[in-house]
Amino acid sequence: MNTAQSRPHVVLGVSGGIAAYKACELLRRFTESGYDVTVVPTAAALKFVGAPTWSALSGKPVSTEVWTDVHEVPHVRIGQTADLLVVAPATADLLAKAAHGLADDLLTNTLLTARCPIVFAPAMHTEMWEHPATAANVATLRERGALVIEPAEGRLTGADTGKGRLPDPAEIYAIATDLLARGGSQSQDLAGKHVVVSAGGTREYLDPVRFLGNRSSGLQGYALARTAAARGAEVTLIAANVTLPDPAGVKVVRVETTAELQSQVMAAAPGADVVVMAAAPADFRPETFTDSKIKKAEDGSVPEIRLAQNPDILASLAHDRPHPDLVVVGFAAETGDAAGSVMDHARTKLARKGCDLLVVNDVGGGKVFGAEENEAVVLGADGSSTPVQRGSKSAVAQVIWDRVVLLLEAR
Ligand code: CTP
Repeated sequence: MNTAQSRPHVVLGVSGGIAAYKACELLRRFTESGYDVTVVPTAAALKFVGAPTWSALSGKPVSTEVWTDVHEVPHVRIGQTADLLVVAPATADLLAKAAHGLADDLLTNTLLTARCPIVFAPAMHTEMWEHPATAANVATLRERGALVIEPAEGRLTGADTGKGRLPDPAEIYAIATDLLARGGSQSQDLAGKHVVVSAGGTREYLDPVRFLGNRSSGLQGYALARTAAARGAEVTLIAANVTLPDPAGVKVVRVETTAELQSQVMAAAPGADVVVMAAAPADFRPETFTDSKIKKAEDGSVPEIRLAQNPDILASLAHDRPHPDLVVVGFAAETGDAAGSVMDHARTKLARKGCDLLVVNDVGGGKVFGAEENEAVVLGADGSSTPVQRGSKSAVAQVIWDRVVLLLEAR
């Protein structure tokens, strides 16, 4: 951390794209979490969002060029004192300048003087992103150690859709702060691997408007998907009823029921190196589905709901693997009771499910669900036990991937 400051100093570079307005939300997340933020917009960025907005939200004056406050040598000082530099949005032009070391304004000068971790969040039209010039510039920046986030797919400016959207500010914030928490470097130890992560809670419908569900938020599964992508993996995220923004650079498949989740997991597993079942599939579903809405009876009698057991996706995948090298990871939400402790139940579950790793959460008293933080123990089928101290769900996810990487190396 920058020794002159007690708070980490983040430089937020903003280049001239329509997505500049989303950087205001990113800036707010940094300042509200206690970071000291200096915004360095380009002149083109100020055509989209004016200097007063950046200044008010960061609590500091902003400047685009090197001729303001020259006595403070801002073109050198800002970069030198940064603990983290995030450029969002990063246009094709900005990426080109950064890749080639041009320095014609305050942001490009800062990019040359900074020695801290650098994150680029590109946003542009699909054609510009896919152009060989941009692809080469991105490759150059990555080779030099910068983290260039994959743009999201979806609606672009105007009527176009495709790859090129700025990822959700919450995702950029999570990626950037994860990187800072990891000491500024992120190994690419999952490069070339395809990982499948399930997240969220399934819904089992009684009729077209009613369902049985559960409290799973999807936060831990989304953190697993985000961190796997940051470690270089190709990620398929099978999301059951999750309302969180899509993690950057991740293929998201949406499902509702346990049956849909099962068919998507089984379809993806043969081509995967790892499957992590972080979802909470309902163990039971109503035995019958009523096509029309169930009405209240005139006589006040209440309907009886009979339940049928759902298939155990994790157990069937682990016991009947599509290929022997597949690493299968399960989760267990446990409470201790008269029959045994949380760890007693977890060891029994690991054996019954047949997976390689089981991430055990103690959920006594409703802990974990929807919380930003988590703590866990990762049990291995080899008898190992790795405690994961209380921390962000990203930090927990990183420990899980560390354990997975060891298993992949031994395959
Ligand atoms: N799981 C699954 N299919 C189900 C239920 C659970 O694949 N129908 C997976 C979850 O994704 C999780 C693990 O199994 O990875 C543990 O789920 P949990 O509900 O804790 O286990 P159960 O087998 O339901 O055991 P319990 O009797 O404790 O509820």
